[in-house]
Amino acid sequence: MHFDAIGRVPGDPILGLMEAYALDSNPRKFDLGVGVYKDAQGLTPILQAVKLAEQRLVEQQTTKTYIGGHGNVAFGKGINDLVLGADSKLIAEQRVGATQTPGGTGALRLSADFIARCLPGRGIWLSNPTWPIHETIYAAAGLKVSHYPYVGSDNRLDIEGMLATLNQVPKGDVVLLHACCHNPTGFDLSHDDWRRVLEIVRSRELLPLIDFAYQGFGDGLEQDAWAVRLFAEALPELLITSSCSKNFGLYCDRTGALIVCAADAEKLLDIRSQLAFVARNLWSTPPDHGAAVVATILGDPELKNLWADEVEAMRLRIAQLRSGLVEALGPHGLGERFAHIGVQRGMFSYTGLTPTQVQRLRENHSVYMVSSGRANVAGIDATRLDLLAEAIAEVCA
Ligand code: LMR
Repeated sequence: MHFDAIGRVPGDPILGLMEAYALDSNPRKFDLGVGVYKDAQGLTPILQAVKLAEQRLVEQQTTKTYIGGHGNVAFGKGINDLVLGADSKLIAEQRVGATQTPGGTGALRLSADFIARCLPGRGIWLSNPTWPIHETIYAAAGLKVSHYPYVGSDNRLDIEGMLATLNQVPKGDVVLLHACCHNPTGFDLSHDDWRRVLEIVRSRELLPLIDFAYQGFGDGLEQDAWAVRLFAEALPELLITSSCSKNFGLYCDRTGALIVCAADAEKLLDIRSQLAFVARNLWSTPPDHGAAVVATILGDPELKNLWADEVEAMRLRIAQLRSGLVEALGPHGLGERFAHIGVQRGMFSYTGLTPTQVQRLRENHSVYMVSSGRANVAGIDATRLDLLAEAIAEVCA
């Protein structure tokens, strides 16, 4: 038979946790797996700004015809402004363009196929560790995938190791950097670190690809864009993948963009023609709804303010959960050991727990997290921090 030789691959380690958690009947369970924000009620809410925009769309939308290869034009403009700043000189010089993609993951895949097609022979360098899907997306597109050190076995940022390796990267290769809220570790570069990375990128003529999936979840919407804007101002060329999954809460609506910064307006048109071609072969045209929602919000000052307040509330809640967990671990003599949870940024924390400890947390306490020890802090129930701390203390004993 045709399919006889086909074996089974393991399920996705992150998405698989969603299923395992849902099947667990323990009412005291904790979901620290997939990167999804939960509010004080344990729900992943639809943002008010999104609901209002959706109501407007239901009333005003007149057609479901295809949107073009680059997607919703107002969305593209809104995202460029959000990421680069409305006063960016790149926007004034027409050197920047956004192509709407199905989520940030779609933007990554588009970048992968674009690099494979238009920059053949270029390898890509990923942080070690990184989001596991980075590894498979670029490999699937046929790129040679290599790594630079990021967080070592001591669970600390290894900036010197990172810079030393970047200094050896072959000229022209692509370096994937996380703009903020590094996934999976939560350790971010300081401004000074970023400046040092920029110098190497410049001197070795590397092409940076900045993955920007968590704008607003680290230090604020503007603050989190600092490194992206530094690179965009300093370099003639840059790729940025932007996601609306987290900051607009549009997870299932698959809304994102690949932003290209080119040396001049003419070159941008060349590149965009290639991106439209690649995208056509991947998904033809992007889904409309999420981008229409984002365009509606970003195009209306009142909705935009409401949305920015909601993002800030999510950010502050995550920051409080971080300090709350460190505090709850204190009485167990673990405050110092897990102090890094308070320093890390965004949804994720590389806790430093071993795969065996993670397994015991799941088996003995129904606490679900990725086997690497990555915990989604945004999934913690604030009313049960003590219970979580007790469980962690038990597996650390
Ligand atoms: C995560 O890392 O948990 C999120 O980015 C969700 C996903 O698709 O893996």
